[in-house]
Amino acid sequence: MMTRLANRTALVTGASRGIGRATAERLAQDGALVAVHYNTTPTRPTMSSPGIVANGGRAFTAQAELGVTGDVDTLFDALEAGLKEHNGGDVRLDILVNNAGVMGAARRRTSRRTSSTGCSR
Ligand SMILES: NC(=O)c1ccc[n+]([C@@H]2O[C@H](COP(=O)([O-])OP(=O)(O)OC[C@H]3O[C@@H](n4cnc5c(N)ncnc54)[C@H](OP(=O)(O)O)[C@@H]3O)[C@@H](O)[C@H]2O)c1
Repeated sequence: MMTRLANRTALVTGASRGIGRATAERLAQDGALVAVHYNTTPTRPTMSSPGIVANGGRAFTAQAELGVTGDVDTLFDALEAGLKEHNGGDVRLDILVNNAGVMGAARRRTSRRTSSTGCSR
């Protein structure tokens, strides 16, 4: 395991799968303590992935549905609790990867804009 991010903390939103999962694995591989955010997908595959547990990486999970009332409070409560537990009480966050999202929503917004203006952006 590399250690260039040792003593650094990271939050990756949408880390239960896809790009977020790969990002969380890489940050853990590089030595960061990673908060693996998820909403509905079980995080066991991310947490037990080679980039995290098997290589001695450090991570904890933080569940929150984003896009609803109170979402940031829910996420930061889970983040703070995880950091307190896994980072000796220090709740400092060094790296934020704001990855969670849904591709379909972006496509729908783009097509609405296109139809109202008559041109594509
Ligand atoms: N893949 C591409 O080609 C591509 C291209 C351009 C941009 N992007 C952007 O890159 C990001 C990752 O893409 P991906 O393909 O890796 O996505 P993905 O496999 O669909 O994973 C999406 C992640 O976001 C989380 N998420 C989605 N909606 C959420 C919500 N309302 N609240 C909390 N978490 C939520 C999911 O959590 P759960 O599964 O736990 O619910 C999951 O962990 C997205 O923002 C996407 O728009 C992707």
